[in-house]
Amino acid sequence: MSNREADLQFEYMEKASAFVDELANTLGRIPTACVVTFGCQMNARDSEKLSGILKKIGYELIDSENADFVIYNTCTVRDNANQKVYGRLGVLNGYKKKNPHMKIALCGCMMQETSAVERIRESYHFVDLIFGTHNIYKFAELIYTMFVSDSMVVDIVDGNDKIVEELPTERKYPFKSGVNIMYGCNNFCTYCIVPYVRGREKSREPGDIIREIEKLSKDGVTEIMLLGQNVNSYGRGLSGGITFAQLLSEVERIDGIRRIRFMTSHPKDLSEELISVMAGSDKICRHLHLPLQAGSDRILKAMNRNYSKEKYIALAARIKDRIPDISITTDIMVGFPGETDKDVDETIDVVRKVQFDNAFTFIYSKRNGTPAAAMENQVEENVVKENFDRVLKCVQETARMRAKRFEGRTMEALVEGVNENDSTLVTGRLSNNMLVHFEGSNELIGRYVKVSLDECKGFYYLGRKVF
Ligand code: 5AD
Ligand code: SF4
Repeated sequence: MSNREADLQFEYMEKASAFVDELANTLGRIPTACVVTFGCQMNARDSEKLSGILKKIGYELIDSENADFVIYNTCTVRDNANQKVYGRLGVLNGYKKKNPHMKIALCGCMMQETSAVERIRESYHFVDLIFGTHNIYKFAELIYTMFVSDSMVVDIVDGNDKIVEELPTERKYPFKSGVNIMYGCNNFCTYCIVPYVRGREKSREPGDIIREIEKLSKDGVTEIMLLGQNVNSYGRGLSGGITFAQLLSEVERIDGIRRIRFMTSHPKDLSEELISVMAGSDKICRHLHLPLQAGSDRILKAMNRNYSKEKYIALAARIKDRIPDISITTDIMVGFPGETDKDVDETIDVVRKVQFDNAFTFIYSKRNGTPAAAMENQVEENVVKENFDRVLKCVQETARMRAKRFEGRTMEALVEGVNENDSTLVTGRLSNNMLVHFEGSNELIGRYVKVSLDECKGFYYLGRKVF
């Protein structure tokens, strides 16, 4: 934690707001800003920090990218995320031609890749500011630098120990929030670019995490999501000697917090202690996201995942046994170098045996700089596509069957908003992370209500509020 750095950034916020005021005078209105998030929950939380600073320096936050300041918080875990950014930058350039005061910024994981930054420097001159994942806390300072310079500002560093947390944030939901408990990843799964763009794993001090959650609770937050690339290894490297399960127990004791979620768990590090803490808790949600990636032992080894098919299946069985009603969801990848149809059969076998409540299925994407990118036996596209469809079909069938098991039950839902398609309905999230839509109005937002899950619609329910 670095208070001095936070103080410095507050000074830059003041300096930057002078420029925003000046812009407001020129425009004759409050300047607008739009933060666009690509990728995971970590990025979503980072975007709340970016939004907090933009609001603090005088911008009005809007959803439209036709704004006076647009920032893309990018992802690079798969190549299609990168391509999306290049495509949308073209559209932004069109807006900028009509609005010469417009500023465009890029940050996040993709900016930690030299090739991406080079391409933007060469072909996207209209971008005003680029920074990476390690210096997001400097956003106010970077905005100030951008305002005083004539050319593109680029600030990318290769790793940073600083954790600066006391800066303003603007939460998307008043009643729920992500909380970073660690940064980076040390696992080096051979396909994954995250360790290279997010750096080495570093846990936050438990006291700082607890204080942040207490503050959030006072501010009206009742549901929190503890965030890290591999939360099960939380505590490694901290002097106090604390495990993730112990951290959860401490978080449970915080008044006002009613639901605790966490993301993401690595199967190799999931402890019996964690299962016990979850089983004995009323607050920890009945949901576990446990990325499988692949079912074949050969592929798991080549991926450097450090568990076998049998171990994964046994772990999932133990969790289900100890925590009835839990939903287990997963990530599955198809098309890793050298993967055969038989290997994919093994993946499907795990899906059938574990019975995932939901699964995100991805086509393997070659990421330059990772060990897998250098493997010679990359799989042909049409073979991958066929296998992907097979996995997806099985995943969908299983998820639909699993969702049925709660039909007719009454469960507590936290109402997150009015339904986007039908304003007579509200949408609530169950402890197991599934959604239920039921009649109600915006007064219910942020409240916990009992809902009868009358009809299962595959991946969600239609329900009725129970009094
Ligand atoms: N290609 C495809 N999917 C990937 N993931 C990570 N790296 C890649 C890649 N190179 C997936 C994994 C991970 C999820 C967040 O993204 O399934 O769990
Ligand atoms: Fe990537 Fe593996 Fe780390 Fe997850 S655990 S971020 S897949 S290297």
